[in-house]
Amino acid sequence: MSPTQPIIWITGASSGIGAELAKQLSPRANRVVLFARRKDRLDALAELLPNVEAVALDLADSSAISQIIPQVMDDFGHPDVLFNNAGFGDYRPVAQLTEIEHQQIMQVNYHAPAALIHHVLPGMLKANHGHVINIASIAAKFGPWGHGPYAAAKAGLIALTQSLAIEHQGIGVHFSYVCPGIIKTEFFDTHGYDTPHMQKQVAKHGIPVEKAVKKIVKLLDKPKLELCVPGHYRMLDWVKALSPSLAMKLVAGGSRPSE
Ligand SMILES: NC(=O)c1ccc[n+]([C@@H]2O[C@H](COP(=O)([O-])OP(=O)(O)OC[C@H]3O[C@@H](n4cnc5c(N)ncnc54)[C@H](OP(=O)(O)O)[C@@H]3O)[C@@H](O)[C@H]2O)c1
Repeated sequence: MSPTQPIIWITGASSGIGAELAKQLSPRANRVVLFARRKDRLDALAELLPNVEAVALDLADSSAISQIIPQVMDDFGHPDVLFNNAGFGDYRPVAQLTEIEHQQIMQVNYHAPAALIHHVLPGMLKANHGHVINIASIAAKFGPWGHGPYAAAKAGLIALTQSLAIEHQGIGVHFSYVCPGIIKTEFFDTHGYDTPHMQKQVAKHGIPVEKAVKKIVKLLDKPKLELCVPGHYRMLDWVKALSPSLAMKLVAGGSRPSE
């Protein structure tokens, strides 16, 4: 983390990973700025935690991003650390989604994080200091059943992070992406995930959010490009390199509702 106490921005902080990041990071931050649509939840966190500001922002609305972010920068300071954490999936096959639903998933999971990066990058580059941490997904490594646009958006986010890391090596500005597996959050309560199959997967493979976030927070002290949570999910890359059809079988088995 920065030598002084950093200013940290966290999107999607009204629940799950984002709220837990706020809990674990606020004691060591100068200021933590939380973003989400459910402002009541952010306000409740701000009452509970030190050094926290709450900002209502709908990342599906690109014009709201360009209006609100410069104001937040003026009011609360330029971030040293940006967690692009907000996101959602929609557990339905591509053929059942409308084009607009498809675009909304891409907007919140890819275009909004990219927009935030465009807002914070010039300041970080000027200061030769900063860290952008993009919360992607293990789904990005091989598109699962019912995750087409979500996996595409997260894969795009990973590729963007990799390019940024290459473009800005060794200057004090760091870029990381995180590939969570199944973390026990509200993610699986809505958008079609509340099926018996998915709930069984969450019960069997889900990791407590506190444990997952402890690992993510370590990136601030020891920046690295990729973090998978749990770590053994990185093996999917090796399986895919050896046999894409075996990787497809494994991913289909874990994600198809009928299996
Ligand atoms: N849980 C997992 O197993 C898992 C696995 C892989 C990747 N991830 C990724 O981890 C990140 C955090 O997810 P989570 O598990 O913590 O899920 P979560 O508890 O459902 O939290 C999602 C957060 O994103 C925010 N969000 C969603 N749509 C938004 C929008 N249009 N504008 C602004 N904020 C929006 C939500 O806030 P509001 O609804 O208040 O706006 C909420 O704070 C996501 O990017 C997700 O894709 C999670």
